[in-house]
Amino acid sequence: MLEARGLFKYYGSVPALRNVSFHIGPGQVLGYLGPNGSGKSTTVKLLTGILEPTRGQVLFSGKNIHDDLVSYRKRLGYVPEEANLYGYMTGEEYLEMVGTFREMPSPVLSQRVDGLLELFSLTSQRSVPMSSYSKGMRQKILLIAALMDDPEILILDEPLSGLDAVSSLIFRYLIQGLCSKGKAIFIAPTYSKSWKRLYATAHFAKRGSYCARVYRRSATADRAGLPLRISSCRWWRKKMFCGSQTILWT
Ligand SMILES: Nc1ncnc2c1ncn2[C@@H]1O[C@H](COP(=O)(O)OP(=O)(O)OP(=O)(O)O)[C@@H](O)[C@H]1O
Ligand SMILES: [Mg+2]
Repeated sequence: MLEARGLFKYYGSVPALRNVSFHIGPGQVLGYLGPNGSGKSTTVKLLTGILEPTRGQVLFSGKNIHDDLVSYRKRLGYVPEEANLYGYMTGEEYLEMVGTFREMPSPVLSQRVDGLLELFSLTSQRSVPMSSYSKGMRQKILLIAALMDDPEILILDEPLSGLDAVSSLIFRYLIQGLCSKGKAIFIAPTYSKSWKRLYATAHFAKRGSYCARVYRRSATADRAGLPLRISSCRWWRKKMFCGSQTILWT
């Protein structure tokens, strides 16, 4: 589905990536781990088409993404490393703008925005300008914007940055649900042991070059595979299973 083939990226004479290759199939999550400066965000920018590789290609369904970047991006949900949002807009206005750019039908857009704002406990802040949002609240808006159009591919650069514990768990659960629907998901996470349970494949980047490839357990959605702490939290289960069927795209 999504393939990085022999990617090299130089910033001037600085090598940021050397010969990175991987493939993400439908229903797979690829965790892309590495220390600071190892090239994770650079890889994300190549996968989204923000940057072009110095050498190599990013292929979606066998075609170079730069052949038709507009239609590729319609299939993509993207969370950047840094939240650059328009502070004068409310969270709701921003999400509606994103949904309109993505040509989402209006009833679907409203339903998804309502449901996801509720799921991430932002309903009471929906009409407040984002300049007054906390870091975690801005991050949630980015996550909602990436998820709401039910994209085929998700590319996430440190998606849990600033998120509280409950929101992190909800997000991980959503990722597992999206996996079971056949989405291809690339995550460059802040390192956390608990993320490992999600990865189908983990790649380890080290400064400037691709390092190793390790297979992990299958990432197909498996509710029993959730940490015990989550599945035993009644409030959380209620929120996930009763209030948000539309969000889970079931
Ligand atoms: N715009 C740029 N101009 C020059 N060098 C850059 C630029 N962006 C990144 N680099 C360099 O490329 C390398 C990889 O940077 P990148 O941001 O991709 O790393 P990262 O793995 O995302 O790091 P972090 O964990 O800190 O987010 C680093 O050596 C960095 O200094
Ligand atoms: Mg980075």
